[in-house]
Amino acid sequence: MHNTQKLSNSVTWVGAGDVRLALFENMFPLANGISYNSFIIEDEKIALFDTVDRSVHRQYIENIIYTLNGKQLDYLILSHMEPDHCDGIENVVAHYPNIKLVGNAKTFQLFEQFYDGDLKSHYYEVKDGDELSLGSHTLKFIFAPMVHWPEVMFTYESTEQILFSADAFGTFGNIQGNLFADETDYADFYLNEARRYYGNIVGKFGAPVQAILKKLADTPISIIAALHGPIFRTEEGIALMLGKYQHWSTYTPEKQGVVIAYASMYGNTENAVNILAKMLSEKGVQDIRMFDVSKTHPSYIVGDIFKYSNLVVASPTYNMGLYYGMDALLNEVSALGIQNRKVSIIGNGSWAPASAKKMTELVSAMKNTTIIGNVLDITSAVKEEQLPLFEKLADDIVTSLK
Ligand code: FEO
Repeated sequence: MHNTQKLSNSVTWVGAGDVRLALFENMFPLANGISYNSFIIEDEKIALFDTVDRSVHRQYIENIIYTLNGKQLDYLILSHMEPDHCDGIENVVAHYPNIKLVGNAKTFQLFEQFYDGDLKSHYYEVKDGDELSLGSHTLKFIFAPMVHWPEVMFTYESTEQILFSADAFGTFGNIQGNLFADETDYADFYLNEARRYYGNIVGKFGAPVQAILKKLADTPISIIAALHGPIFRTEEGIALMLGKYQHWSTYTPEKQGVVIAYASMYGNTENAVNILAKMLSEKGVQDIRMFDVSKTHPSYIVGDIFKYSNLVVASPTYNMGLYYGMDALLNEVSALGIQNRKVSIIGNGSWAPASAKKMTELVSAMKNTTIIGNVLDITSAVKEEQLPLFEKLADDIVTSLK
């Protein structure tokens, strides 16, 4: 059964959500699913924006058929050729054989890489800045390469001032009836997931995100419609997300606070970070977020690393190197290009200790990142005589937070 929502008289959401999916990209845990957004603008010409993941394709087609009420589609705008948004192209063309597929040269190259159907006669290739009139609505295509893939393009509809923003400003978490962010408790329910989504999916591409934000700086925006998650239609909501993207894309912490990511095989490294966390708290530090890397998926830790100014990493040695979970986390932090952070390091090792050295090497490779305090190296378990070293490290972290 169809399930659509109106953005305005002319614009309808025809997307769908998947709450059964456990791992987005078969990698990132989803506690509340994800939505695949798609929109129809009805005017003299009718345009559909993007398709959806194959898991929700049936719902999507029902939504389109219901919305069109017998009318034909003229255009399918292809914002992004990742299969969570493009898997329905061939089926949409089968339903609407006169449709034009609107994309750029890279869009069509990727389409042909993924799919075998010859749809060349449907291609309508656009260049950056090209416009397409639907009647009273005009679409302007704004290329946004590497926000998240090279073919990505935003579309700006100038009459209703809608920015169709591809993956940007999206979030994990399905739409739960309330399509618009201002109808939800966005800060409580979605914002952490929007940050985790950004950090892990788009986080590596800070410079391209900065480029598109600059390109849009003078564009009046009344609605942001991303491919995942709620739609922003209030000044506050739009300002919130533009502000967050400014922070995240420049790797600027949103808050002073300390993320403590640790690995611990028998509880001794955990004891060390608990001692440090208690000392930080006693010294007035309020935002301390502790993660056992063996218990928490790294995407959550990455999300909080994007949020906070300081990071403490603590890990035992394993196989004369770095414990697997910590090695994976720090390599991911490096791969995402996270920078501009203050990092403290606690190593542990009972024989041939190496974790402090390995973590120092990985942290030193992060751009604009300062190692705060002395690198501590405990050998198996914290001893009474080492407590002053922890006090000193806690003092150095507190100083760095000011
Ligand atoms: Fe939602 Fe980059 O795909």
